[in-house]
Amino acid sequence: MRTKTMKLEGKVALVTGSSQGIGQAIAIRLAQEGASVVINYRSHPEGAEATLAQVKAAGGKCHMVDGFTLQGDTGSLADVQRLVSESVDHFGQLDILVNNAGIEKNADFWNVTEADYDAVMNVNLKGIFFAIQAFVQHCMAVSHPGKVINISSVHEELPFPHFAAYCASKGALKMLTRNLSVELAPLGITINNVAPGAIETPINTKLLNDPTKLNALLQNIPLKRLGQPADVAAMVAFLASADADYVTGTTLFVDGGLLWNYQEQ
Ligand code: BGC
Repeated sequence: MRTKTMKLEGKVALVTGSSQGIGQAIAIRLAQEGASVVINYRSHPEGAEATLAQVKAAGGKCHMVDGFTLQGDTGSLADVQRLVSESVDHFGQLDILVNNAGIEKNADFWNVTEADYDAVMNVNLKGIFFAIQAFVQHCMAVSHPGKVINISSVHEELPFPHFAAYCASKGALKMLTRNLSVELAPLGITINNVAPGAIETPINTKLLNDPTKLNALLQNIPLKRLGQPADVAAMVAFLASADADYVTGTTLFVDGGLLWNYQEQ
């Protein structure tokens, strides 16, 4: 019954960082829409296996949906190139690239180390840059259109004190997406960002365990709740589908209204 409404039947998606949190929800949602999914993880093979089990279950009786797990550090150029090539080797095609993996480091600006700066930039920007490049080279080689979806953040727009490198990486990702939307359009490739606000995931564990900070944050969210990974996954499923064929170069916010919430007290 679900088969009729499957938006992504016959498509293959690579979702980076899909052993937990938002990436895991995206992988499962894309599978529910009929896509086969490559589940990438860096250091949590058991999380990736859990995602895979749900991807396969999401396919249900529809044998078209398949998946496999693939280790790789998205902060490494060689690894992202391998992730794309092994996805293609395994499924014979790759239609959707979801650059989800991301990290953040909390420090006062004057204490940020080169190692932490590099770690954030490598995963949040350089790895994404070259993953897109590898994906585009594949699309060109097979003369096939494609969809790139980057998981950015409200902090591609909004300052986040003590997370300077993170903000710099997300701001750069916004501009990368705009630039590539123009350059890749002639190839039939669309590229967009999804920008989550505060989502209940492992990246926020500290905050979630601090009732005072959590409450202060909730006061800033007009919809008065944290987002769920599934809230973000729904937007990704839309952008990955033909419904979004005319959408490129933009950022869609999934933040409960957080970004534009300023009120004089
Ligand atoms: C960050 C979270 C933060 C949220 C809202 C996200 O991009 O990863 O740590 O809570 O933005 O500020």
